[in-house]
Amino acid sequence: MKFFIDTANLAQIKEAHDLGVLDGVTTNPSLMAKEGIKGEANILKHYADICELVDGPISAEVLSTDFKSIIEEGKKLAAIHPNIVVKVPMIKDGVKALKYFTDNGIKTNCTLVFSAGQAILAAKAGATFVSPFIGRIDDSAWDGVELIAQIAQIYSIQGFKTEILAASIRNALHIVKCAEAGADICTCPLDSILGLLKHPLTDIGLAKFLEDAKKM
Ligand code: E4P
Repeated sequence: MKFFIDTANLAQIKEAHDLGVLDGVTTNPSLMAKEGIKGEANILKHYADICELVDGPISAEVLSTDFKSIIEEGKKLAAIHPNIVVKVPMIKDGVKALKYFTDNGIKTNCTLVFSAGQAILAAKAGATFVSPFIGRIDDSAWDGVELIAQIAQIYSIQGFKTEILAASIRNALHIVKCAEAGADICTCPLDSILGLLKHPLTDIGLAKFLEDAKKM
């Protein structure tokens, strides 16, 4: 399973990259706004800066919701760098745009996916990645990881090539469960990635080894 980091914060992207386990980056309008990125020129520059830090798929989300504008905006985003993946919402014009981008060699990430039906539609339209939001599903008292398993089973039976990008990850356990359920990629906040490191027995064991090493 590949690891993407889900942030627009350059310092956090760099920290995850320096750990040596980062395969790509996802952003969304909320994450860009959190970093105070405003205005078209700054937005495009920020995506370019992320592309300089990480050599892997970098998702940049369109803000338009009608077909013509999605295409225009997506082309502009794709022109920033060959690693840019155009992130398109799961709406009617979004599905049409996914098909257009697929036919024109532009990689896509279908975002805001909350059901197996939506995941089938994204795959039929040729999306490179599909992003089921598992944390938000959990928040609404459904089981997000179960959706990942269901999509993985459907894609495997049907031979769909779209990669399952588990999104809206809230903790390290989500990452483990998504790996078990068949996600191809997890996009995670830095804290969740670092959470994988933690085990109290590791800390206790290391403290003991270091103590005993003084007697060597
Ligand atoms: C996915 O690509 C989204 O950026 C993200 O995972 C949404 O997560 P959230 O539910 O924590 O906002």
